Amino acid sequence: MHTINIEGGKTLRGEIVVSGAKNSVVGLIPAAVLCDEDVNIYNVPQLSDVDNLIEILEYLNVQVESKEDYIRINPTSMTNKVIHNELSKKLRASYYFMGALLGRYGHVEISFPGGCVIGARPIDLHLKGFKALGATVTEDGDNMIIEAEELVGTNIYLDFASVGATINLMLAAVKAKGKTIIENAAKEPEIVNIATFLNNMGARISGAGTNRIKIEGVDYLHSCFHEVIPDRIEAGTFVVLGAAVSDGLKVCNLIPEHIYSLTEKLREMGVPMEIGPDYVFVKKPEKYNPVDVQTLIYPGFATDLQQVLASLMTKANGTSTIDETIWENRFQNLYELAKMGARIKVEGERAYIYGPTKLVGTTVMATDLRAGAALVVAGLMAEGKTEIQNADYVLRGYEKIVEKLSNIGASIELI
Ligand code: UD1
Repeated sequence: MHTINIEGGKTLRGEIVVSGAKNSVVGLIPAAVLCDEDVNIYNVPQLSDVDNLIEILEYLNVQVESKEDYIRINPTSMTNKVIHNELSKKLRASYYFMGALLGRYGHVEISFPGGCVIGARPIDLHLKGFKALGATVTEDGDNMIIEAEELVGTNIYLDFASVGATINLMLAAVKAKGKTIIENAAKEPEIVNIATFLNNMGARISGAGTNRIKIEGVDYLHSCFHEVIPDRIEAGTFVVLGAAVSDGLKVCNLIPEHIYSLTEKLREMGVPMEIGPDYVFVKKPEKYNPVDVQTLIYPGFATDLQQVLASLMTKANGTSTIDETIWENRFQNLYELAKMGARIKVEGERAYIYGPTKLVGTTVMATDLRAGAALVVAGLMAEGKTEIQNADYVLRGYEKIVEKLSNIGASIELI
């Protein structure tokens, strides 16, 4: 297990470049096995989640070649094998092999996925969708066998606009017979990126980015080149950091509309920003206004950014609130923040952050990926030394985080 040590209170400045989106690439890599030739993906971030997916590919005898931000995946000699617990539990996104292998072979055996403990994280909507496409699901403890003689396109209504279910069902339906319509589909940019990837291979998907996705099944998918979109959560984290501790930080290589709900909130807080075509220039204001945030599905305020924003809210003159409507257990970071001096109250799905308070460095624990990122921001804001234990969570979603932050003046090290 790694630890991140931070000496806080430094003023940051300069440029920081956003990497490819974790939540996109973790869908693109499993999606690649649907291809009947090889695929080439660029702007791939170097993350432990990516390494873990490559391990699964190699276990399935898929040829993988990777160099810096490029990866070539050739699944032509792939073998469909049981994906055991040791492989699947390392990350949530291992469950995209359900849709991908089901779509390719009509059969998949896999253990229940792992991932951050931010809620119950059921996969009932995924399984319901597979069944609607004609599959049977046999559950034996943590193991699942999903199989179909033939997958046949149909209308699927998602009770909740789940990101994971939308992607998994797109993967399963790409080679199904006839037309599938996913109603109440999730609209996150990562879904559009994955649909574009499949379309680049010859799939016929339309409507990705709206709540109604149509998929005409095809028999063959060919070689393609594809680029991962910038990571909007990493981008948002850096913008919040700039708003907290910089006298001028240019966050480069982002798509501003992907973080609009965040930048609007920061404006409300009084943070000065210049928003360019692919960058946000941000610096800390004289004083911060308190704000109320409610997490929602895209394009609403991203749940993955509320924890990071909570660290900044400790600086506001008054009480800020966060209503977390997506995950039931996503305030663990606040208890750690309280150890640093924040004044917090959590009542069910609502958190109150009473500002302004001064944060002081201490030993804290990353309880999940974004909680870890929120503590990095808090550590950089705090006076003195912060030790973040369990930092492997942070490495799952932030490429070269220590190097990137050191380059803009942070005193930070990974032990
Ligand atoms: C993805 C993101 C995660 C983000 C989340 C919401 C990835 C790898 N992860 O997670 O960072 O926080 O979207 O934006 O892309 N649900 C069910 N049944 C299901 C599926 C989901 O009830 O079958 C519920 C979940 O418990 C949760 C809500 O739906 O309350 C949202 O889940 P979902 O959109 O599926 O999140 P993930 O895809 O797991």
